[in-house]
Amino acid sequence: MGKKIGIIGLGTIGSYLKERIESSDKFELAFILDVDKTKATVSSLDKTNLSKIDLVVECASAEAVKEYAAKVLEKTDLMILSSSALAEKNLEEKISVARKKFGTKLFIPSGAIIGLDGIVAVKEQLESVELVTRKNPKGFGRNDKKETVLFEGNARKAAMLYPKNVNVAATLALNGIGFEKTRAKIISDPKCTANTHTVTAKGKFGAFHIKVAALPSKNPKTSGIAALSAWRKINEILLGRSLD
Ligand SMILES: NC(=O)c1ccc[n+]([C@@H]2O[C@H](COP(=O)([O-])OP(=O)(O)OC[C@H]3O[C@@H](n4cnc5c(N)ncnc54)[C@H](O)[C@@H]3O)[C@@H](O)[C@H]2O)c1
Repeated sequence: MGKKIGIIGLGTIGSYLKERIESSDKFELAFILDVDKTKATVSSLDKTNLSKIDLVVECASAEAVKEYAAKVLEKTDLMILSSSALAEKNLEEKISVARKKFGTKLFIPSGAIIGLDGIVAVKEQLESVELVTRKNPKGFGRNDKKETVLFEGNARKAAMLYPKNVNVAATLALNGIGFEKTRAKIISDPKCTANTHTVTAKGKFGAFHIKVAALPSKNPKTSGIAALSAWRKINEILLGRSLD
């Protein structure tokens, strides 16, 4: 019997994971929850469908994290893609309480960014982390004809204003110096064909730069590498390894 996985959100990332899970004998798809009833196999999460599940994967929206995270963590481990949801202090606190009380774990895959191992390694000496995210206007549901700076400020505010586009800022903040100190600049650029994230991290250790130019998936907001990172993380969590 394979490890049982529940999926919340059968969109671009969820569909990819479903296909990988179903074509592996190591895993079993236990349920799909989606606001779109045509995609869902369950209509809500309760003790019955959460029992004997090894991992629930959220790849839906920040709203879904708000709605289901604490409920899932009462029963089993949870991996979330919509990390921007954790910019809301109350939710982060609620999740932390649930994890501690029920002894469950919350996982966040690297998603659309790389190099988190470096951020974590230098964390105690880290003084500043700056992210510049540049996407085609389509990724923001806009129609800009020239480069437009949409936001400049801290990661908490960025995540509140652009939850679908700044999961990278949130993931960096959670692994590094937090939502207040992590800086984010968001640029809509009609010349942009890739979703580009440039990170500059500085501290007593020196400095490093991370640059990702990831092609968007079917969803122009979402980089294709996010689904790959989620699949890798599932393997790591449930099978204790990172390769198939
Ligand atoms: N961590 C990262 O770096 C990273 C990268 C890319 C995407 N993401 C995030 O991952 C999530 C999924 O991305 P995607 O491109 O697959 O999205 P998508 O829009 O293609 O699919 C989302 C699916 O979730 C469903 N859904 C939305 N809200 C829901 C809710 N409250 N309850 C149940 N179902 C709900 C939708 O009906 C849809 O089927 C998004 O929140 C996105 O911002 C994170």
